[in-house]
This record gives sequence, C-alpha cells and structure tokens, in this order.
Amino acid sequence: MTTLQGRVAVVTGAGSGIGRATAQLLAQRGCKLAISDVNAAGLSETAELIQAAGGEVLQHTLDVADRAAVYAYADTVAEAWGGANIVINNAGVALAQPVKELNYADWEWVFNINFWGVVHGTHAFMPQLLAGEAGHIVNISSLFGLIGVPSQAAYCASKFAVRGFNESLRGELDGTQVNITSVHPGGIDTNIAAASRFTAGPDGKRDKAGAVKAFKQAAITSPEQAAQQIVQGIERNTPRVVIGRDAKFVGTVERLLPTGYHGLLRRYLNKLSES
Ligand SMILES: NC(=O)c1ccc[n+]([C@@H]2O[C@H](COP(=O)([O-])OP(=O)(O)OC[C@H]3O[C@@H](n4cnc5c(N)ncnc54)[C@H](O)[C@@H]3O)[C@@H](O)[C@H]2O)c1
Repeated sequence: MTTLQGRVAVVTGAGSGIGRATAQLLAQRGCKLAISDVNAAGLSETAELIQAAGGEVLQHTLDVADRAAVYAYADTVAEAWGGANIVINNAGVALAQPVKELNYADWEWVFNINFWGVVHGTHAFMPQLLAGEAGHIVNISSLFGLIGVPSQAAYCASKFAVRGFNESLRGELDGTQVNITSVHPGGIDTNIAAASRFTAGPDGKRDKAGAVKAFKQAAITSPEQAAQQIVQGIERNTPRVVIGRDAKFVGTVERLLPTGYHGLLRRYLNKLSES
C-alpha cells in the first residue's frame, strides 16, 4: 500500500506494547484508527495519545476471542468510517508451561486469543478489505512461529498456526488488491511476559519474576522500532517481516539446522539466565 494518508486502520490489542506503538505510528502517517483491547484503561491511554498528537481515533473494548463480538465490531467500523483498509490482528497472550502440566483450559485460552482472534479478525473484515481500492492484513505471529521452544508448546503452536494461515491466505489473495504481511517479532520490550500465565520457563525454573527479568534483558527491540518495521511492511507489501536481530539470527539458524537448533538455543538461554 503506497499511501497511508486517509486510510482506515484497525488494530487489536492496542492498549499496550506493539499494538499501541503501531496505532500511534499509523495515526502519525495520516490513518484513521479503530483501536480495540480487552483492557479498557490501556486502550483509553492509547486513544488519548493519538488524539493529543492530532489523530482521529475510535476505541472499543473488544475480546478478539469472541467471534460474534468481532463481527459486530467490523459492522461498527464500517458504519462509522465506511470500512477498513488495514487490519492488524495483534492482540495476543503468552503462556510458559511444560506440556505435561498443560490442561485444556490453558490450550484453549491461548488458541482462542492468539489463533482464533486472528482468524475472526481476518474473516470479519475481509469483505470490507476486498471492497476497497487497496487493503492490507497484518497478522502477528512470532519468532516462536518459526522455532519451537521448551515450555512454549501452546504459544508456539498458536503462532505456527498463524504463520500457516498467513502463508496460505497470501496465495489466495494473489491477484486481488488485498495483501498480507506475516510478522515475526523477536524479543520486544512490552508487558507480554509480565501478563503471561506461567508455571516454568524454557530453562525449567519455576520463577516468574526471574523469567520476566530475563525476558526484559533479551527484549532488545522497542515497541516503537517494531511498529516502524510493521508499517514499512505495509508500505512495501512485504510478505514476511522478521523483527529484531535476535529473530533474524535465530530464524537463520533454524533454516540451516531445522532439527538441530535446540542445542544452540539451550546454550543461549543458559547464558541469559546466568547474566
Ligand atoms: N513482546 C514480544 O517479545 C513479542 C514477540 C513475538 C510476538 N509478540 C506478539 O505481539 C503481539 C502484541 O504483544 P505485545 O508484546 O505488545 O504484548 P502486550 O501484552 O504489551 O500487548 C498485548 C495486548 O493484547 C491485549 N489482549 C490480550 N488478550 C486480548 C483479547 N482476548 N482481546 C483483545 N485484546 C487482548 C492485552 O490487553 C494487551 O493490551 C502479541 O500477539 C504477541 O504474541 C510479542
């Protein structure tokens, strides 16, 4: 999408982190922002930041796991602004728990938000995107949609699923005026680890505070830097955006050693938890 000025952009999970920074940047580029989150307080802060900078914003409390609510929300955006041009399915949660301790409620929690939230957002807005002169979908996967990590089976599976969805849909959208970007961030310094459900980290330690500290050290990219790359991905119609030198490095290792990257990863995690 070469011009962002005047476009209607939808961002889920915009009350914090990557979603907030991306919504702010799109507003600076002249988009009208339809933002949503389950966290009404965080969402209002984002709306205030956008308005204070002169941007136009609609805010709605929305649980992306609630299919009917996402469809109703798409109608609301269409009624207010005549339909979306950019949809960023960003809302997500993290869970650190070994498979032997995972129960189905945990699996469903992660998948209902990270995977089904993306599917609902894409389906609900697709008719609007296809009806406009240009459309773009951004679905946030993860570095953990490129590699598997101990204690992250449910999270990784949800993010691999998003990647599979994105790559399949890209083929289907070929020849239309709608494009899609699959986003794979490495560590981004947001609230995601602190807000996670946690029993044990990749190093096996049952220490959430320690894991959050290790995440903060490993999260070498800011949400604002992530937002820059996401928006550039929309402007340049990049099919896959891998964010951060950590994600680029580990992504390359996975391609070179598709079944042998775990040893390297273990050494990296050990170094992190020692520092
Ligand atoms: N931070 C990272 O290192 C990192 C790395 C890879 C991928 N990601 C992905 O980036 C996306 C954004 O995460 P972030 O790092 O900015 O985290 P964050 O916790 O700062 O923001 C996530 C937002 O999603 C919202 N949310 C959670 N459940 C929701 C639901 N059911 N409906 C609507 N909103 C909901 C939260 O309230 C929060 O405002 C997520 O999909 C995450 O998995 C993050």
